[in-house]
Amino acid sequence: MLTPDALLTSRLQAAITSAFGADFADVDPVLRRSASPAFGDYQANAAMALAKRVGGSPRDVAQKIVDGLDAGDVLSSVSVAGPGFINLVLRPSVLAAAASSLLADERLGVPVADPPDRVVIDYSSPTLTKEMHIGHLRSTIIGDALARVLAFAGHDVIRQNHYGEWGTQFGMLIEHLSSSGGTGGSVSIADLNEFYQEANARFGSDAEFKERARRRVVELQAGEPESVALWQQFVGAARAHAEEVYGLLGVTLTPADDRPESSFNDVLDGLAAELESAGVARVDDGALCAFPSGFKNRDGDPLALIVRKSDGGYGYQATDLAALRYRASPSGLAGTRIIYVVDARQSQHLSMVFAVARAAGWVPDGVRVEHVPFGMVMGPDGRPFKSRSGDNVKLQEVLAEAVERAAAIVASKNPELDPAVRAEVARMVGIGAVKYADLSSDRIKDYVFDWSRMLAFEGNTAPYLQYAHARIRSLFRRAEVSPSLVLEAPVVVAEDAERALVLQLVAFADVVTSVVDTLQPHRLTTYLFETAQAFTAFYEQCPVLRAPDEATRSSRLALSELTARTLALGLGLLGIEAPDRM
Ligand code: ARG
Repeated sequence: MLTPDALLTSRLQAAITSAFGADFADVDPVLRRSASPAFGDYQANAAMALAKRVGGSPRDVAQKIVDGLDAGDVLSSVSVAGPGFINLVLRPSVLAAAASSLLADERLGVPVADPPDRVVIDYSSPTLTKEMHIGHLRSTIIGDALARVLAFAGHDVIRQNHYGEWGTQFGMLIEHLSSSGGTGGSVSIADLNEFYQEANARFGSDAEFKERARRRVVELQAGEPESVALWQQFVGAARAHAEEVYGLLGVTLTPADDRPESSFNDVLDGLAAELESAGVARVDDGALCAFPSGFKNRDGDPLALIVRKSDGGYGYQATDLAALRYRASPSGLAGTRIIYVVDARQSQHLSMVFAVARAAGWVPDGVRVEHVPFGMVMGPDGRPFKSRSGDNVKLQEVLAEAVERAAAIVASKNPELDPAVRAEVARMVGIGAVKYADLSSDRIKDYVFDWSRMLAFEGNTAPYLQYAHARIRSLFRRAEVSPSLVLEAPVVVAEDAERALVLQLVAFADVVTSVVDTLQPHRLTTYLFETAQAFTAFYEQCPVLRAPDEATRSSRLALSELTARTLALGLGLLGIEAPDRM
């Protein structure tokens, strides 16, 4: 079934062609939900642009569209307002039918993409020299939400964890491992940060150690067995730590998604040779460089992407080129939409990689390659979020603190909750709060990490939405009605608050589609927040359990059920769980 706005859009389009001719079949009626019920349910803003093409005043053009509109079956009123807006009010029966069809649809109206994109999405991708820290939070959370949304929309999603475990720092780490006991030794890398600090201190103070660490890098790259074994031991420990963090966060990355930097080592010589012979890269001062057009430094000189360093080694830029070739190539992952959820500060690096890969002909026409940038996590003082000692805040500690704080809040709100249930709810609320705070801000901006704001039960927060959901679930427990029983109940849209709630609920699919298009999760959080608010208004104005008659009661229960399902599905797409009680 068509959503009300799809229905209105097609009727308006028909009216435009009947009034102005077939040449205008492509005109977008610019239909929006009205800002206020005083302007109807929807407002069309077609007349402004159309008036420029056909002449006459926008008001007259709007009137002509209205005169040609054949929508008596779906509209109860239509009028021209202001400078040429068309205000549209749906018949209650149309809204009721739309709500009923959503109730019967597991997907709540979200279409299945046809044909689907083959989406390759690179996210989390930490550099594993130390424990995962606050700087890894955003890519992991935003990337996972986007992967879930894209997969739900029917796309074929391939996750890639392009984590870093290669390069000079690892020479230092494995030399430290070796000289403190070696692979068979007893050295503990239980505390990765401490281990890193020790290694780094030796590197800084002990010239001999420093030299051995450098040699390790060369040996590692040459595949010398002892160095490789040490490296595997270290990386194994670091990757296991990342797995723990993923478990706490409940992200959908698995080890099968691992495609770390080192996995591209073997192709780098061939890649460099190909770029050189194709004339995309040339040797400059001993290094093999590409100079993608349009990239200039401050002095206006061309910027180099270094494919191969003058010492023969390869770095981050080369690895990213290899990764993109693999992701786009028909014999590789064959992605049709390739997404990088990476810090905004890497914009230029990625743009250059994209440009060189295109110049090399590795990205087939029609394949989209997109950087999804995001800002930083700031502390309450408005500076980058750091621990008291000035270090990066460890993710494991942040997440543990979130759950602990949530547990205290849940205990005070609902002391009767069974302790085992309470612990589970605290986990969902604490982790949900951290994720939601991140996802609900426009990602390109920095945001302030603020415990009391993210854990508040009021405002645009996870606990507010989770609570709204749990309240509806408790309504059903009190009514002693199973949610499945109300699915068949005829929906009646009579009161203003019912109308407003249904208009909100039918917009779900469009919002999900807009997240697929823009890769902006905050569109969904804003929508869910508005949905919970519309439900609150409905619940205050329209008694559910004490409805005046049985038909109204079951209709209102049905709308409550639809709201709960919308909140749970929407939160789920963001990677946030919705407990049934809290
Ligand atoms: N490891 C990098 C970092 O921590 C992020 C990698 C992002 N992905 C990529 N393909 N470059 O900054």
